[in-house]
Amino acid sequence: MQSITPSAQTQLHLISHPLVQHKLTLMRKKEASTTTFRTLLNELSSLMAYEVTRDMLLQDVAIETPLEPMTGQVIDGKKLVFASILRAGNGILDGMLTVVPGARVGHIGLYRDPKTLQAVEYYFKMPQDMHERDVIVVDPMLATGNSAAAAITRLKACKPKSIKFVCLVSCPQGINTLHQAHPEVAIYTAAVDRELNEHGYILPGLGDAGDRIFGTQ
Ligand code: URA
Repeated sequence: MQSITPSAQTQLHLISHPLVQHKLTLMRKKEASTTTFRTLLNELSSLMAYEVTRDMLLQDVAIETPLEPMTGQVIDGKKLVFASILRAGNGILDGMLTVVPGARVGHIGLYRDPKTLQAVEYYFKMPQDMHERDVIVVDPMLATGNSAAAAITRLKACKPKSIKFVCLVSCPQGINTLHQAHPEVAIYTAAVDRELNEHGYILPGLGDAGDRIFGTQ
């Protein structure tokens, strides 16, 4: 069993809010229906969006209340991109867009070549002007870390201003692999589980996130 390296630990943000932990536990249950799983994932994604956007820059803006003028502060949500790693990442988008409706959305599709075991891209679409944007990469499970690392390598070719990674459940192996490939990327997760099984599933985990979101089991 691996443990998280001290270097990777510095980039790890464990989202320990009681609401997040409560909803994650309900999602993990094998008897949770597709509807329940999806609803909880939406709620949890909105909560995680609060954590991952905590350090977003604010701009002063002059407004008038019914009583007098004042200077308020706003974010420029359009500068943010949620980049979903297909297909399970799409389950996180709606909840995050509820909180930041102006954000742009990108998609990254990768599959693992069964012979070379390397990630092969089959889809990649990002908004324009990526050099002006902060990107939050979303995928429910950080398992081996290989697809997250490959997705971020591809994303870096667009030269975004910054990249963060958000998942629900992770494990030490995935965290270490992603951190080794991209040491500057902050990793946000609601749980660090024990280990991977021989099929690359996280234990105890929650099973196949894509199947549970889309009801394809
Ligand atoms: N992908 C999943 O959906 N679940 C895991 O446990 C690992 C990878």
